Amino acid sequence: MTSRNQDEMKRAVAQAALDEIRAQLARDTVIGVGTGSTANYFIDLLGDYRHHFDGAVASSEESAERLRRNGIAVLDLNSVGPLPLYIDGADEIDQGFAMIKGGGAALTREKIVAACSERFICIADRTKRVPRLGTFPLPVEVIPMARSHVARQTVQLGFDPVYREGVLTDNGNQILDLHSRMIEDPAAMETRLNDITGVVTNGLFAHRGADILLLGTETGVERHL
Ligand code: 5RP
Repeated sequence: MTSRNQDEMKRAVAQAALDEIRAQLARDTVIGVGTGSTANYFIDLLGDYRHHFDGAVASSEESAERLRRNGIAVLDLNSVGPLPLYIDGADEIDQGFAMIKGGGAALTREKIVAACSERFICIADRTKRVPRLGTFPLPVEVIPMARSHVARQTVQLGFDPVYREGVLTDNGNQILDLHSRMIEDPAAMETRLNDITGVVTNGLFAHRGADILLLGTETGVERHL
């Protein structure tokens, strides 16, 4: 598949997400918006509707900047409380809607916004749908001084951790990408990794997975519930 096709699928799912939520955009409505190339398509389409709703909570500084460029107010999660909707991409999503996220290093804020949202709409092209999570390296955000400790602990769990050099998260932390292990039980692994001292969070979204998957394919967008 060419990357052009993949980009077209990303744009199509972004449009489908907008169609999905348009009726919910109203005064007093604040929505959560994710990070990545698929989320970027969504943000650019959402710009045309900026006067229909109050604003958005962003899962990264990059998305916040893009939202502002589209004339959409960016609000602080602490001042707006629970959100009705969160729209974001994924690096992998399985049949039960558990995901690996964090390819763009925004996993912690993504997980926070997802936790505060009533409905998580995952927008992804068909390459992201997998029978089992783990081919995409699993990102873990770590406190910098704990990086080697966390890496050693993940080796005990059967992973090959790789330090994502030159990357600092929006929270001032570092990323380890865990390679070489399929995840049989995403919820158990999410908890296990978060129990390691020095881990801020990991990119498994199993305890709070997606509620709806809009999946871009060559023949159109599939809506999975
Ligand atoms: C960023 C993420 C993204 O949702 C994920 O990486 C998918 O990105 P893209 O839409 O560019 O494929 O988790 O931290």
